[in-house]
Amino acid sequence: MSVASIILAAGQGTRMRSKLPKVLHPLLGKPLVWHALRAVKPLVDSPPVLVVGYGAEAVKEAVGDGVTYALQAEQLGTGHAVAAAKSQVNPQTDIILVTFADMPLLRQETLQKLIVLHQSSESPVTMTSFIGDEARGFGRVVRNEHGHVIAIVEQADATPEQLAIREYNVSAYCFDADWLWDALERIPISPKGEYYLTDVVGLAVQSGYAVESMVLEDPTDGIGLNNRVHLAQAEKVLRQRINEKWMLAGVTLVSPETTVIEADVVLGQDTVILPNTFLRGKTIIGEDCEIGPDTTLINTKVGDKVKIIASYLEFAQVADNVTIGPYSHLRKNAILGEGVHIGNFSEVKDSTLGPGSKMGHFSYIGNAKIGQDVNIGAGTITCNYDGKKKNPTEIGDHVFIGSDTMLVAPVKIGDRSITGAGAVVTRDVPPDTLVVGVPAKEKRKMEKSD
Ligand code: UD1
Ligand code: CA
Repeated sequence: MSVASIILAAGQGTRMRSKLPKVLHPLLGKPLVWHALRAVKPLVDSPPVLVVGYGAEAVKEAVGDGVTYALQAEQLGTGHAVAAAKSQVNPQTDIILVTFADMPLLRQETLQKLIVLHQSSESPVTMTSFIGDEARGFGRVVRNEHGHVIAIVEQADATPEQLAIREYNVSAYCFDADWLWDALERIPISPKGEYYLTDVVGLAVQSGYAVESMVLEDPTDGIGLNNRVHLAQAEKVLRQRINEKWMLAGVTLVSPETTVIEADVVLGQDTVILPNTFLRGKTIIGEDCEIGPDTTLINTKVGDKVKIIASYLEFAQVADNVTIGPYSHLRKNAILGEGVHIGNFSEVKDSTLGPGSKMGHFSYIGNAKIGQDVNIGAGTITCNYDGKKKNPTEIGDHVFIGSDTMLVAPVKIGDRSITGAGAVVTRDVPPDTLVVGVPAKEKRKMEKSD
């Protein structure tokens, strides 16, 4: 049986009180709609149909390819939104999975179970619910004295007795496709002037079907977002899920409450993450590392046995046995070779430091290629920007850059050369040469050490 998916993302999300469409609000670094798509994609035979409306262009730009878009030009309710997707759904589809983009904690496994339950059911609709303590504005699942579902009643339309019901509608449904298209045309208009998707449950019951509701084992799957308080609740749960996954996989989180690990991050065995650490984007960390406290890594690749204290790394690459910090800033394309040390208040951008090179204190290195076993003295700066363009600096192997050297790029320093403290290097320095002064001049050739 072929399964298609429709995800509703056309609403404004008035209760968020935001200029941004609700489904684009970030949850652990990714828009809500990204999470909804991630759960559904592996379960369907064709790209999910995403119904967009409010802020459609912004939503499309954020989501990109890999989905089929349907436009709901006017937001007349969730039933109306599903109907707007019809022309984009393959007519051969047997089963349609409908989910909402503002339910980002629903897991793939949960939706898989729903599909299986639906396939074993006689009813053309199968729904999902959870028993919870907080309504969050959700519809109530009304059952008869035999425990059979008879309707979903929206919070705004519920009687006081119905409001007391603790079983809530999740908004994840499986439908027989043909039955769904027909039922959508029969939904009555609500007192608020909307077409509620929830009303199709009542229609199925009226036609004599026994509608089943899959009650979530873990009610956190049912945390949906209608305002920013719910957003924070969802963020907490998602962080906890990811943190627990890594702890069970052999990573120590000294303080999980203050550790933020985004969904795409990968961590190696026996790595220890210290408090207040944020691992974002496609960050990959090897084994036996110690990261933090107070550290942020964004889209950064780190080898094994690396130690990073109180630092900020973005789009950087760090080889094995490197030590960083406290207070280092690695920016895009900062590439540190094996065993490199960079320390207090050092910034590196678009530069490579070869294996074993050290830069302990107060330096800026930009657009530079530095060889191996180079010592960069305190306060060294590559003056790479001339007001118009960025110029390169090249430093060979075994070079000793004296404290407070200014390397006025473009400039090259040959292997084994030395710059004196306070030198301002404006011209290339050949290998085995000591230069000193402002501007730096050759003082003598170095003796061969052998
Ligand atoms: C809906 C359900 C409610 C359920 C709750 C939990 C209905 C009528 N109510 O209420 O039973 O407990 O979700 O998830 O279905 N949307 C559109 N077009 C529209 C309206 C909404 O695409 O015209 C989209 C929104 O972008 C959102 C989703 O549908 O992703 C839900 O809309 P929302 O207004 O939040 O519905 P709830 O009030 O939460
Ligand atoms: Ca909602």
